[in-house]
Amino acid sequence: MQTKRGKFIAVEGIDGSGKSTQVSTLCSRLKAEGHKIYPTFEPTNGPIGSLIRQMFSTRIIGDDKTIAALFVADRLDHLQNPVNGVLKKLEEGITVITDRYYFSSYAYHGAHMPLEWVIQSNALSAELLRPDLNIFIDIPPEVGFERVHANRADIEIYETLENIKKVYATYQEAFELLKEEEKIVFVDGNRSMEEVANDLYEISLNCMTAE
Ligand code: ADP
Ligand code: TYD
Repeated sequence: MQTKRGKFIAVEGIDGSGKSTQVSTLCSRLKAEGHKIYPTFEPTNGPIGSLIRQMFSTRIIGDDKTIAALFVADRLDHLQNPVNGVLKKLEEGITVITDRYYFSSYAYHGAHMPLEWVIQSNALSAELLRPDLNIFIDIPPEVGFERVHANRADIEIYETLENIKKVYATYQEAFELLKEEEKIVFVDGNRSMEEVANDLYEISLNCMTAE
């Protein structure tokens, strides 16, 4: 019997929206129930993702389009890597849940360069793998900023409130632009972690059991 392809779920949101916390809680819960789950994230910890993190942390920030292109390359490696690539996991019948995918590129890079260009530059990823579901954890930029601020001494340059607001607005612009071809669900992230976790669990389970 042929293995049924796993589902691909992308969790999106501005910095501090609770993505890492929620992806980790969700994956543990689903795994404990016996589901085959592969949690992952972007930027990856592969060679290109590591280069991006290094550029961010040492502030050797190249020009915006170069950074955006590195994210495109990191994403293609994330999908196609022969060892632990997302496409391979899905073929093996494993559900993949990622903390960020191409909507992050649309929002973060589209905030300061033409959104259409960012979407075009990610066309190959979209062709290779469109998420079965994009979950946007929705919090006001002020709350995200507050959370990040409370937990980190070194605020990155790109994490100013003004920039988070721009990123939030560009997320909405991208969702509106692509609402016909993408499956997008909004979850109110400005509640207790448990409430958010329960919503994510129900929504993901629904997606996993759908044909
Ligand atoms: P992200 O990965 O989206 O940047 P994190 O999961 O790292 O977000 O969460 C950012 C911070 O906010 C962490 O300190 C986390 O404990 C806190 N946090 C996450 N979810 C909530 C919530 N629902 N209510 C209050 N604080 C939260
Ligand atoms: P991440 O490690 O998810 O940070 P955080 O946990 O604080 O949300 O991502 C690092 C940064 O990279 C984050 O600010 C968003 C940004 N980013 C892009 O600019 N473009 C992209 O395509 C992706 C996936 C992330």
